Amino acid sequence: MPFSDYKTALVTGASSGIGAAVVERLCAEGLQVHALARSADALDALAKRTGCIPHAIDVTDLAGVTRLMGEVEFDILVNNAGVDRPGSILKSTAEDIDLILDVNLRAVLQLCRLALPGMVARDRGHIVNISSIAGAYNFGGNSTYHASKAAVHMLSRQLRIDAYGKRVRVTEICPGRVATDIFAHVHGDSAEIRERFIDGFELPQAADIANAIAFAIAAPIAVNVGLMEIMPTLQVPGGLSTTRPESPQS
Ligand SMILES: NC(=O)c1ccc[n+]([C@@H]2O[C@H](COP(=O)([O-])OP(=O)(O)OC[C@H]3O[C@@H](n4cnc5c(N)ncnc54)[C@H](OP(=O)(O)O)[C@@H]3O)[C@@H](O)[C@H]2O)c1
Repeated sequence: MPFSDYKTALVTGASSGIGAAVVERLCAEGLQVHALARSADALDALAKRTGCIPHAIDVTDLAGVTRLMGEVEFDILVNNAGVDRPGSILKSTAEDIDLILDVNLRAVLQLCRLALPGMVARDRGHIVNISSIAGAYNFGGNSTYHASKAAVHMLSRQLRIDAYGKRVRVTEICPGRVATDIFAHVHGDSAEIRERFIDGFELPQAADIANAIAFAIAAPIAVNVGLMEIMPTLQVPGGLSTTRPESPQS
């Protein structure tokens, strides 16, 4: 059981949803789990419940993140923090694009840059990146979010090359819709948003994603689970749109 080979974990975006569930799961395995997000109160409550070590740090705060990575040798890094903004790129602001890329991609790259050399030197480590089916398929949504998650997909593959020859594992978890507060965080918390995204659907719960991550970590050290796409049974990607022009060609 490689869980016993690992002692420490860092989970970003740990104050709610999937991140909080992963913290809970890894704490239950006896790891020392460091939980990072901006919401100090939520992290403190999680720490009381699970025994994790809270860090109220913005994942885009490079100095803060660098300090933490210098203080602890992490065996497991779960890059989970993520944001989205409503609407297509037709309505995106410059700030929307910067925020999504800063949180979903730039911070992931920086954390991998800070974590991977130590893992390679110790010949031990596991990086888990949370992407999205938005990175694998095209459908209505924010194109910047899709692009950021597609980059996380390729990064996850490429990290395996960077760590080639060492017992460093990389797992991409690619979820479809999961019953978390992400939709409230993106669109605002309202009955209409819950009705649109959550109520009445049969959806994977955050704990289901945490269990999938635990499966990948618990696999024998000779086994790298590279990619897990986890969708609701009653959700499928795909489709083809064809429309007539609004006006004839001139
Ligand atoms: N739920 C889904 O349907 C779904 C589907 C596909 C992929 N995902 C991905 O799964 C991951 C987790 O999402 P979730 O569903 O659990 O959503 P969530 O409940 O909104 O959680 C997002 C987490 O990211 C943290 N975060 C956001 N900005 C941050 C920042 N600047 N610095 C540090 N932490 C930050 C939030 O904490 P603070 O606000 O306290 O900082 C929160 O803990 C995301 O990467 C998301 O893109 C979710």
